Amino acid sequence: MKNTAFLLSFFVLTGFQAVAQEQDSTRKAFLAAQAVIQKQSEQDHKKMLEQLRITSLRPGPSGNPNAPNAANVDESQATPYTSLPDPLVLKNGKKVTTAKQWWQQRRPEIVEDFDREIYGRVPKNLPNVTWEVTSESKEMNGDFPVITKKLLGHVDNSSHPAIKVDIELTLSTPANATGPVPVMMSYGFRFPAGFRLPTPPATTPPAKPEPTWQQQLLAKGWGYAVLYPTSYQADNGAGLTQGIIGLMNKGQTRKPDDWGALRAWAWGASRALDYFETDKAVDAKKVGIEGLSRYGKATIVTMAYEPRLAIAFVGSSGEGGVKIHRRKFGEQVENVASAAEYHWMAGNFIKYAGPLTPNDLPVDAHELVALCAPRPVFISSGSPQVEGNWVDAKGMFLGGALAGPVYKLLGKKDMGTVEFPPIETALIDGDVAFRQHSGGHTTGPNWPTFLLFADRYFK
Ligand code: GCU
Repeated sequence: MKNTAFLLSFFVLTGFQAVAQEQDSTRKAFLAAQAVIQKQSEQDHKKMLEQLRITSLRPGPSGNPNAPNAANVDESQATPYTSLPDPLVLKNGKKVTTAKQWWQQRRPEIVEDFDREIYGRVPKNLPNVTWEVTSESKEMNGDFPVITKKLLGHVDNSSHPAIKVDIELTLSTPANATGPVPVMMSYGFRFPAGFRLPTPPATTPPAKPEPTWQQQLLAKGWGYAVLYPTSYQADNGAGLTQGIIGLMNKGQTRKPDDWGALRAWAWGASRALDYFETDKAVDAKKVGIEGLSRYGKATIVTMAYEPRLAIAFVGSSGEGGVKIHRRKFGEQVENVASAAEYHWMAGNFIKYAGPLTPNDLPVDAHELVALCAPRPVFISSGSPQVEGNWVDAKGMFLGGALAGPVYKLLGKKDMGTVEFPPIETALIDGDVAFRQHSGGHTTGPNWPTFLLFADRYFK
């Protein structure tokens, strides 16, 4: 970890104690700010429950495997639900047999259900975004010379000037490119000062460091971009009256079918794509999207709703991503409906944690993957030993596998199996791909396999 190395050298240079104290006060300030955010999120969550006339919610299980209420990880107990919707059966009970029926009838039905009940509706009349290149520099990334642009997307806030929104994006393309290049855009985490990642398990560092994902892309002559979602929509309920959601609501509370953070983040990715269409260094027809965890959820949502994206690399997206909701394994609907995570979703999603249940959801995650068809989607997970079971690798696999019939209807190939494969099996011959790597909560070890898959489309 670069940051750790940086901090260590800092300690040596300036004296441990002074820095430790400063660190301590930054940490305290961070924790105090977190407490305020949590309280405000709980208040906003409560207001949404009032709008929904819900008086109590079922609590979700714990992510701690040793807790008395630990999430289920026993496969024999994982499937109590009976009502998995068929992506190819219309609401009127008729079977979809042609691509035309899919595009004109069934897909719009599924989109409406996801809009209303799961991720929320994107407002009409979204503001214009004006992109500014704030800096441009030639630099080296490992052995590769790159041109890096830092960009700000200024959001027109004339409808409610009290809320100012800028989208932060960086773009790096090979300096020696002779024409426009494919670009992978990654949703980037940005942590506030004082934030601490959990200590990763000790591992022996490799003798020669592996090339980073950016360097793997550069080796192919492709570029990379990093989009910072929290620059335009906060990752908490307290921020729902700010950012792009707050701007559209003029600082008021959401209605139950208004968009949540995942769709707001996806909106920003679409605006980044608008910019790429104007930048001669980028082949805008070959732009892919990647993200991990909450940004893995954002990745699949972005791909489902943004037809211009060419490929998606969906990392450990778990519940609310490509994991089937109707599986009692790992994280549950109830967890995402809680005050800590509901902001990702439409308010209506909370209903399925009381009085309704996951069985009542009008759609499930395989239909979200199906909305991406016929475009390629790669679903990634880590190992149960290192990453844990919270993300439910098999549930994510099924999200991809059960989207297969829609890919086939559109003339594409499914995963080739609905049997969960052994770890490290690359299912990449179809247009929906899956691989569980043996590492932790990261897409890292799956980049080489993803790039093999992507090669087929970006050649
Ligand atoms: C929590 C949450 C997950 C989410 C993850 C993350 O574990 O329950 O749904 O994906 O955080 O984004 O890191």
